Amino acid sequence: MGKVQICICLGSSCFARGNEKNLQVIEDFMAEHNLQDGIDLDFGCCLCQGACAGGPNVTINGKTYGNVDPGMMLELLRKNFPEIK
Ligand code: FES
Repeated sequence: MGKVQICICLGSSCFARGNEKNLQVIEDFMAEHNLQDGIDLDFGCCLCQGACAGGPNVTINGKTYGNVDPGMMLELLRKNFPEIK
């Protein structure tokens, strides 16, 4: 299976509205389940994408999700790693 590509918008609006916490959720999830090699966490392409109003935005494998809160972030991670309960 290829790596799960997660692009988390770190523009100031998304960051302030929740992506700071979402990033923490991703990092905790990776550490807890030893997923460092299974996730390609990409910050480089994720500066403000002009969709701040719907943020915080997170893109996973090319699909962008808006209004992502930590609960939804965790749900999205679980969905992309179905082998993890
Ligand atoms: S800061 Fe994320 S889309 Fe603008």
